This record gives sequence, C-alpha cells and structure tokens, in this order.
Amino acid sequence: MADEVGFATQQVHAGERLDGDAGARITPIHLTAGFVFDDFDQARDRFHGDVEGFTYTRLGNPTTAAVERKLAALEHGVDAIAVASGQAAVTVALLALLRAGDRILASRSIYEGSRGLFRENFANLGIGVDFVDDPHDLAEWRARIRPETRVLFGESIPNPKNDVLDISGVADVAHDHGLPLVVDSTLATPYLVRPIDFGADVVVHSTSKFLAGHGASLGGAVIDGGRLDWAARPELFPQLTSPSAGLGGRSYVERFGDRAYAEYARSVIASRFGPTLSPLHAFLLQQGIETLSLRIERHSENALQVARWLEEQPEVASVDYSGLESSPYHGLAKRYLPRGQGSVFGFTLTGGEPAARAVVDAVTLFSRMTHLGDVRSLILHPATTTHSLLTGDELRANGIHPGLLRLSIGIEDVDDLLRDLAQALAASRRARLEVA
Ligand SMILES: Cc1ncc(COP(=O)(O)O)c(C=O)c1O
Repeated sequence: MADEVGFATQQVHAGERLDGDAGARITPIHLTAGFVFDDFDQARDRFHGDVEGFTYTRLGNPTTAAVERKLAALEHGVDAIAVASGQAAVTVALLALLRAGDRILASRSIYEGSRGLFRENFANLGIGVDFVDDPHDLAEWRARIRPETRVLFGESIPNPKNDVLDISGVADVAHDHGLPLVVDSTLATPYLVRPIDFGADVVVHSTSKFLAGHGASLGGAVIDGGRLDWAARPELFPQLTSPSAGLGGRSYVERFGDRAYAEYARSVIASRFGPTLSPLHAFLLQQGIETLSLRIERHSENALQVARWLEEQPEVASVDYSGLESSPYHGLAKRYLPRGQGSVFGFTLTGGEPAARAVVDAVTLFSRMTHLGDVRSLILHPATTTHSLLTGDELRANGIHPGLLRLSIGIEDVDDLLRDLAQALAASRRARLEVA
C-alpha cells in the first residue's frame, strides 16, 4: 500500500489479501495446527522456504500472517512476528540478538516484567544487564556501553512516570557502536510514534494493550526495521552473519538481506521457544487494530483532560503526564508524540498510601486492575502491586512514592471519569479527617 495513505486507511487495509474460495472480506480464523501438502515436492519446497505457503501453525499461519503484515506496515518495518504475549515479544526480540556472555543496556524506566526478565531469567542464561540511571542523559548511555553490550533497550512511553524516551538520541549512541536499539512501544502504538522513523531498529509491543484494545486477548509483536547493517561488524552478531547449516551454508544476512533479523527471530527463536499466538487471538488483534487511531485519539484526549483536572486538586502533589506543560518531558512529547501522549500516567497524592488506598477503594467507574490500554479506565497502586519487588531505594529512584496511583484512561465520557475521581478524592479527604 502506498505510504502516502493516511494512518486510518492503513490500519484498516494494510496487509490484507483476499483469502480463500468463499470470498471472505476479512482474513478468516484459520484454527488449524497444520496445512496439507499437495504432494511430495510441495512438502519439500515449503520446508526449504523455496515456495510461499504454510506448514505448521507454530511456524506460520494465514490469520497470523495477515496481522503481521499489518503491524509491519503500520510501524514502517520490513517484517513482523506475532507471538503469544508482550513478555514473549521482548524475550524473542532480545534472544535473537544475545548469547551467553553478552549484555543488554537498558533504560532504568521500563516495565517491571522486563526488568525481572533481564535481571533473573536472562542472568540464568549467562546474559547480563546494565541499567542507565538517567535515561535522558545520552552521555550516560554512551558511557555504560561495554565490549559485551549487544543491544540498547528502552520504552517510548514508560509507565507510570511518562518519561518519554529520546529515541533518536539513544539510537545514535547505539549506531555509533554498531548496535541495535530495541524500543518497547506498547503504550504509544504506531499511531502516536513510529520508533523506526526515529532510528530504532526493532520495535516490540504487548498487543494485549492498545493494539488489541478491548482487554480480551493477550499477544505480542516484534517488528524489524530492516535498516541495521548486521554485516558491518560481523563479529557482533555471528548468528546472523556466519554460515548457517539450515540455509545451505549461507548466512541469514546473505539469504534474507534486510529481513535477516526477522527471519532468524521467527525461525530460530520464536518457533523453537514456541510462544505461538493462537490464530483466534491474531484475528481479535487484527480487529482491534482496525479502530486503533479512533481509540487512541479518544484515550489521549481524555487522559489530557483528566491530567489537567488532577493537577488542580489540592489532594494531588504531582501529575506525571507528558502532555502537561509542567512535565519535564513535555519537550520530548512535543517532538515524538505530537498526536497525543497516550492514556497511562501516574499521579501522587499528598496523603501517601492511606489516601491512595481510600481512592482505590472508592472508585466505582474505574476498575481496580493491573492491565493497561483497555477501553475501560483502570486504576492501580504500583508500590504495593507491580513494583512491590523493588527495594525502598529503587522505589524512590523510580519515583514510585507511597501516594502514587497509576491510571489507564479509557474511552468513556470524560465527565463521568472526572465525577468518579472527584468522589474518590472526597472519600480520601473524609478518611484523612477520621484519622486526624
Ligand atoms: C510496556 C510493556 N511491555 C510488555 C508488557 C508485557 O505484556 P504482556 O502482559 O502482554 O505479556 C507489558 C505489560 O503490561 C507492558 O506494559
């Protein structure tokens, strides 16, 4: 599809191919484990990748392939791999770049599930991690690169502090060392920012959030930007640049060119570790993406109004939303997120944990949930839930104060959201008076 086509047109039409004899307009749910071969030769050719076609759903499926094409187009990538969860997407994206002895250099401001994956699970595989304390200090990114570093990792919109990543700044640091930048863009989606346009090499998503959009199905995606010249420093990524027995002695770069990383991530990492997306969930994801821009516009408008309102409330000490002029990341948001700053942010109550508890217990329209990116508005107390494994020092360093609440603002009527928050803040005031 021509690149000039607008985002809303692309989200509906990109990647579609009319599929099957019945003339189905939407790629149907191909809920099948495997695919029949016409004959001996076709089986052999499909296994060798010499002809298009499917073999077994863990290696590829028409419903999943349709949503992969759509995601690659929307992110301006060359290829995409859909997997069973965001956690699987981060794992697959990085295991395609890392071997025992290698290290990740990651922003401190990332999803706790990714932090745990790097610190514990990857450590057990002999893969190390270094964290950048101030992700907005490009000199610190540069200084922390070691000879073993193989990938830089950050999130376009981290939660709950909304400290927007300087994607092109970090990408430049990575590229100066021949390394890729992987960006988790779950909270932004391609509607708000396309990290590849700003120099990122790989984009990952938890599609369970805004892309699927309705809080019903888990999924993840890895999108290959196709720009990094892996062969420029072949010693860094031998899995892509040295001869592979499976490719008749050619390397992934020789065989697949700018899609080398995606092919390796798909056929060697995702298919062997096996976090396959169900074709049913691929279908739900594709349906969600078709309305992405409409939802994200509404999410962002609502979030900005809620953030502005919260900023005026006496019980609120601070609001972490990059759409606000008061945010230290407003300048970065203007550059990277001109269409809106997303739906997820934190705010801190002056009354600390007791006030946070009263608000969480008093809301009636907001759901008390750890999920994000639902059409419904959600609320959570990070210090006692998602971030409860951090030490006191780590909580302070990450700005997770006892009075901090995280919101994921939905697409409801914003006046109803404000009314619910107003009565919850009133409940927290009453609780405070009773204690006093
Ligand atoms: C930024 C980010 N990345 C990855 C994940 C993991 O996604 P999933 O829950 O789909 O495994 C999450 C989940 O909240 C997330 O917020």
